[in-house]
Amino acid sequence: MGSGIAEVTARAGADVTLVETDEARVDRSRSAIDRSLARAERSGKLTAEEGAAARERIAFTTRLEDVEGADAAIEAVIEDERTKRDVFRRLDEILPDAQFLGSNTSSVPIMKLGAGTRRPERVLGMHFFNPVPVLPLVEIVRSIMTEQAAVDSARAFAEETLKKNCIESQDRAGFIVNALLIPYLLSAIRMYESGFASKEDIDRGMVLGCAHPMGPLALADLIGLDTLQAVASSLYEEFRDPGSVAPPLLNRMVEAGLLGRKSGRGFYEHAR
Ligand code: CAA
Repeated sequence: MGSGIAEVTARAGADVTLVETDEARVDRSRSAIDRSLARAERSGKLTAEEGAAARERIAFTTRLEDVEGADAAIEAVIEDERTKRDVFRRLDEILPDAQFLGSNTSSVPIMKLGAGTRRPERVLGMHFFNPVPVLPLVEIVRSIMTEQAAVDSARAFAEETLKKNCIESQDRAGFIVNALLIPYLLSAIRMYESGFASKEDIDRGMVLGCAHPMGPLALADLIGLDTLQAVASSLYEEFRDPGSVAPPLLNRMVEAGLLGRKSGRGFYEHAR
């Protein structure tokens, strides 16, 4: 999702420094952005000149220090609390004057990320949706320490620069969208696991019967089964609702490395 956030920011005319952990990931992000821009150019959403200008606005690096001087930062690293806390601790040092430090987390409480910084008042959630260039929503999440000025500036960036729509949520597991979406996806996995119906029919049911753009198992593959498992676990930890328990099939698939689109196979096979 980080490359999607970098892409929409560059398309909106802002300079971006995209930090990856190693050169292989830099190459992957660069190709994902190239593919997505080429797709937008083909469908006439972007001219070739606009695409080229967007590419030039993105600086790729493997050093977090290279974000020095940025107006704001948006973290989109793996859904692991320790890794995220470490990134926030370092961003807090590198960017003493940033207007906000946002996290694209879907499962880690914003307060836990803010608590590791010297200024938790500027730490907030900025939750994008996949695919970022297509879906128009950003959830803004304030912790009990987040100040209004940080919310205002993150909201202005999302709405005025990126032309996204914002909704605001308190710092509760799942925020608004995942608190509703994840139990539904887990129910679909349980339904498939129990032999109730085929995966194709479960998905066709929700596409044709409820006009969803894709069925729940295809959507689970798009989100990533490891991310789905992480959000389920944070929902269960917070609310203890049995509907948020990850079904055994989901756990086994994650253990097997069947993570959905990102690994090439989940409930379905995906060309990479
Ligand atoms: N990157 C950029 N653009 C993309 C894209 C991608 N990965 N995938 C599709 N698009 C664009 C296409 O270029 C196309 O644009 P045009 O109409 O201008 O040509 C448009 O989206 C539609 O694409 P397609 O015709 O290829 O395919 P589709 O109509 O089946 O749409 C979809 C694909 C956009 C993924 C659609 O099925 C969809 O919106 N699905 C639901 C996705 C969803 O629910 N996402 C939220 C997940 S939850 C989350 O992200 C948060 C979390 O924390 C878990």
